[in-house]
Amino acid sequence: MKVIALYNIKGGVGKTAACVNLAYSCAKCGMKTLLWDLDSQGAASYYFNVKPEVKGGTKKLFKTKAIDELVKETDIEYLDLLPADFSYRHMDLFLDGEKKPKKRMSEFLSRFEDDYDVLFLDCPPSFSLVSENIFNSADVMLVPLIPTTLSLRTYEQILVYVGEHKKLSLQLMPFFSMVDRRKKLHQETTDDIQNSIKGVMRTSIPYLSIIENMGIRRAPVGLFAPNSQASLLFDQLWSEIVIRAKLNSR
Ligand SMILES: Nc1ncnc2c1ncn2[C@@H]1O[C@H](COP(=O)(O)OP(=O)(O)OP(=O)(O)O)[C@@H](O)[C@H]1O
Ligand SMILES: [Mg+2]
Repeated sequence: MKVIALYNIKGGVGKTAACVNLAYSCAKCGMKTLLWDLDSQGAASYYFNVKPEVKGGTKKLFKTKAIDELVKETDIEYLDLLPADFSYRHMDLFLDGEKKPKKRMSEFLSRFEDDYDVLFLDCPPSFSLVSENIFNSADVMLVPLIPTTLSLRTYEQILVYVGEHKKLSLQLMPFFSMVDRRKKLHQETTDDIQNSIKGVMRTSIPYLSIIENMGIRRAPVGLFAPNSQASLLFDQLWSEIVIRAKLNSR
């Protein structure tokens, strides 16, 4: 099982949109896919029409061994969801009280190893003990970047953290998100940075209003607009990830 985190310290950069759509692309390839909505606001759960609730909250979640008590099916074949819960906002406090606070999540995730090929993490926008657990759990970290200088500085903070933690074995995969080619700054920054940021994905996700429609349709774009540019680009981004992460597509 590969763990793929959608992470950025910054909020509103397209983490959830990418997580939901890439999980859909992944499931479409026939890979057994689980998405854990780690954000207490529950946006990913909302998109899949699943109630953002875990009975007993964070504490019970980490103690539950039987994963079928936790996982919810979605309307999409091969795609399951571990929903958000409002108590996740205190997950830091919970982890801090555990024996190995920085590795507790990784231990919990090993429970899903036999049942899923890929586990996506839709992460909240912060840097915290939860984030440190994410860094320790992820095989791949996808980082959506809006092409502005300020937004790119947060990526440097991620690079510094990874540089300071040599034992981490995650592959960093930054990609441009919400790119507005009409905005001169976006265009210039994307062109400049495409070469200077190491390992930036070739596929960028433009700013497309159909992605905003996910909130009305409550589904990944590929489900209600399979031939749209957005759907095709998420599939293309997924193909790049498959190759880079050496995932075995079925
Ligand atoms: N490529 C895009 N084009 C147009 N709108 C987008 C795109 N990606 C995301 N959005 C919209 O922008 C808003 C923020 O996106 P999203 O929720 O995916 O960001 P996020 O990084 O997960 O935010 P948060 O940090 O709050 O969790 C949403 O309303 C979403 O519909
Ligand atoms: Mg989000």
